[in-house]
Formats: sequence, C-alpha cells, structure tokens
Amino acid sequence: MAVKTQFICSSCGYESSKWYGRCPTCQAWNTFSEFKVETSQKKSARLDIATSSDPTRIGRIEKKALTRISTGFSEFNRVLGGGIVLGSAVLLSGDPGVGKSTLLLELARNISRDAKNSVLYVSGEESEGQIKIRAERIGVRERDNLFIFSNGDLESVIRASEKIKPNILIIDSIQAISSDDIPGFAGSLPQIRHATSKVVSFAKRTNTPVFIIGHVTKEGEVAGPMLLSHMVDCVLYLESSASIPIKSGSTDTGTRILRAFKNRFGDSSEVGIFTMEGNGIVEVSDSSFFMDKSKKRVPGSCLTVVMEGTRPIIAEIQALVVPSNLSFPRRVSNGISSNRIELLLAVMQKHAKIPLDRFDVYVNVVSGLRITETSSDLAVCLASISSFKNKPIGTCAAIAEIGLLGELKEVINQKARVKEAKKLGFRDVFTQDQYKFLGDIIKDL
Ligand code: TYD
Ligand code: MG
Repeated sequence: MAVKTQFICSSCGYESSKWYGRCPTCQAWNTFSEFKVETSQKKSARLDIATSSDPTRIGRIEKKALTRISTGFSEFNRVLGGGIVLGSAVLLSGDPGVGKSTLLLELARNISRDAKNSVLYVSGEESEGQIKIRAERIGVRERDNLFIFSNGDLESVIRASEKIKPNILIIDSIQAISSDDIPGFAGSLPQIRHATSKVVSFAKRTNTPVFIIGHVTKEGEVAGPMLLSHMVDCVLYLESSASIPIKSGSTDTGTRILRAFKNRFGDSSEVGIFTMEGNGIVEVSDSSFFMDKSKKRVPGSCLTVVMEGTRPIIAEIQALVVPSNLSFPRRVSNGISSNRIELLLAVMQKHAKIPLDRFDVYVNVVSGLRITETSSDLAVCLASISSFKNKPIGTCAAIAEIGLLGELKEVINQKARVKEAKKLGFRDVFTQDQYKFLGDIIKDL
C-alpha cells in the first residue's frame, strides 16, 4: 500500500504536500502538522456508494424501494421524508443545549422499545451514568434494547458497532470522536472529516442508518459546513424559536423547530415542531399551537395561517398601537421583519387613512414563531387597526399579502391554509376572494 506524506492545517483542514508556517486558507500560524496517509485511506474519504463498472441506460436501472423505519415521532418522520432510510447518514446540528442529545435519545427509546430492534448510542461527551439519568427522565425502560457506549475513540466505536450490529447508530457529537491515525485534537477539521467518513462508510457498508450530532460553531455553522454536509444524506437543524433577547430572564419559549436543510430522500422544506418539557422533548402535532387559546379575542390580535414546509400552522399576530411623543415613533417587531412592518404601516396610513405616523407600533408573533412570508400582511394590518380602534376582531383568520396600492393578493397554498382555518372552526377567513382592497375590509370591521 502506497504511503505518502501530507501536511494538514489543524484549524481548517487545508491539505498540502508542503509545509507552511501560516495556513494560506485560514491564515492561522503554526497549525500544519505532518502525517502519513495511505493512498487507500484517501479513497475512503470518497462517498461510499455502490459503484458499477459501466454506465447503464436509465430505462434499465432497477429502482429499489427505500425501506424506512419510523422514528416514533410523526414530526420527525415528516422532516426525514417519511421515516429513517436504511443506510442513510443524517447530521443533526444545533446550538448547545437546544436538545439534540435529548431528541436522539428519545428516538433511540422509541425504536429500541420494539424487541426486534436495537440501538447503539455512542457518546463522547457524557458518561454512561449521566446518560442513564437522562434516559430515565425520558422514560427509557430497563429492558429496552438500547446500548450506551461512552467512548471517544473512533476505532473502538466502529468495532463496537460492528459487534452489536444495531438497527440504528447514534453518534453524540462527531466533535468528540477522534482517531489516533489522524493529527490534531478531537474536534479539529481533519479529525471530524475522518470520523464522519468512517461513520458514513459504516452506514453504507452495513445498511445501518446513522445519526451524527454536530455542534454549531460560534458563527452559527456546523463545523466545516460544506465538508460535512456533502458527506451525509440529510442535514437537519434543531433550533429554538426564541424571541428577542430580553436581558432579564430567559427568552427560551421551549419551542423547538427541526428543519431539514438538505435531504436526499425527501422535501427539504419540511419542519417538525417540538417543545422541551420536564420529561423530554414532545412533538406538537396541533397546528393551532402558535395561537394563544387561553383568552377571548381582545383588541390588537388577529390570526393567520402560515406554511411551515407543507404544513399549515395557525399563528397569532398581536399589535399594540399607542400614541407617541417621539418625533420618530417607535416600531418594534418580533417575529416579522421590521422592514415589512414599516411598509405595511405606510400602506395603512395611505389607504386606510389611519394616522399611524403619530403612534408607536409594537408587533409580536405569539409563541416565538418567526414568519418570513408575506401571507400574514393582512393579519398584521388588522391587528394594528384593531388595537388602534380598540375594537376586537372576532374569531377570524386573515390570509393575504398586501400590495403597495393597498390591494389584497392571493398567497401560495391559499386553499390549504383556508381549509386548515375552517377545520379549526373559524367561520370567517378573509382572503383576496372576499375583499380586493384593505380599505374595504376595514369598513366592514
Ligand atoms: P441536550 O439534549 O443536552 O442539548 P444538546 O445535546 O443539544 O446540547 O438538552 C439540554 C437541555 O434540555 C438542558 O438545558 C435541559 C433541558 N432538558 C429539559 O428541559 N427536559 C428534559 O427532559 C431533558 C432531558 C433536558
Ligand atoms: Mg448533547
């Protein structure tokens, strides 16, 4: 086996055949170390897919149906495109403490509950005892087929996986796994890359799905983002939908959103919604979760339906319009872009004849949901007008984009949204079908 000498930057993973004092890519000093690569090891860095010797005409290729295993969470299944595909490698990343370990331990619990299935949960970060405490908290039973392995050595991990032959392998943090064959400390780029490639080839070779947890760096990216994401089949992000940072107290609403960023086996626009509770992470399948159900409609509140992937979700927009004594009145928005709010306020001022330039306006989306589409425009306007007039607007939902001329526009997936609102019992759903201009709808309020 041919062996060649390589120099790798331990900070960014840049490879070169000569040594540098300063890395030409990341500009770090003294990060190059020498190591020997077997040429075959180089090859294993390539993605392991079944290779064929000749090209085949498309019509002759046999389609293999994907076998999927349920995660036990319908929200998670949807994000994966219908369940876990055999032999797939899924990278789960997110901020520290967001609940990645908890979510995957729960997935392990759901799958290992079936006596036919076994799950191997490898942790390079926590001791077996610590994991057991967490496992008990989320309701793992003593007799479940769940194996915990606290070890940060890549070779031991692969050996254990080969011995146990689990139905699912979970690696709790790729940054905590390292190999003695590679220079650099655990978590450095060459280490991460090597560990990921070994784990992914284990998945492909044995047809075992693997979940890999990856931490997000300070800049909000998975370490070596391009590097890891092209090696795996799916990249998922678990994020907390925290609202504006308030100095005192936590901003954590407990809501967790699981997003697919890349998915070779499904739609990457899907999201799953969870909440963090005392006994673990719980899925939310109720589409009216983001709406305040505790009280009757008061002035300043309007409901709308937003799409998260293919799923309609009822959201509540709240607005507070109060007289201002500032020459530049305040516009504070939480959950919707402030530029959009400025634009809508200008449209309301012009086309609904409301002197908003003398009022402070605060807009908030309940439960920390972030809305990036324009379908909630009408709801923002109605909530603001309702607060301005101090008059509640019954239990209705408003779904329309507002143009600069004050006109209502149809939004994508309008039918699905209206259907969801009707399903939840809203008699009045305001869209572009009932009203053409913002001015008309205000007259009827
Ligand atoms: P964890 O899964 O360790 O996060 P990550 O692996 O993404 O770093 O989650 C840790 C947080 O979750 C911690 O702040 C405590 C909280 N938590 C709960 O609220 N309820 C629970 O049942 C568990 C296990 C954790
Ligand atoms: Mg963790």
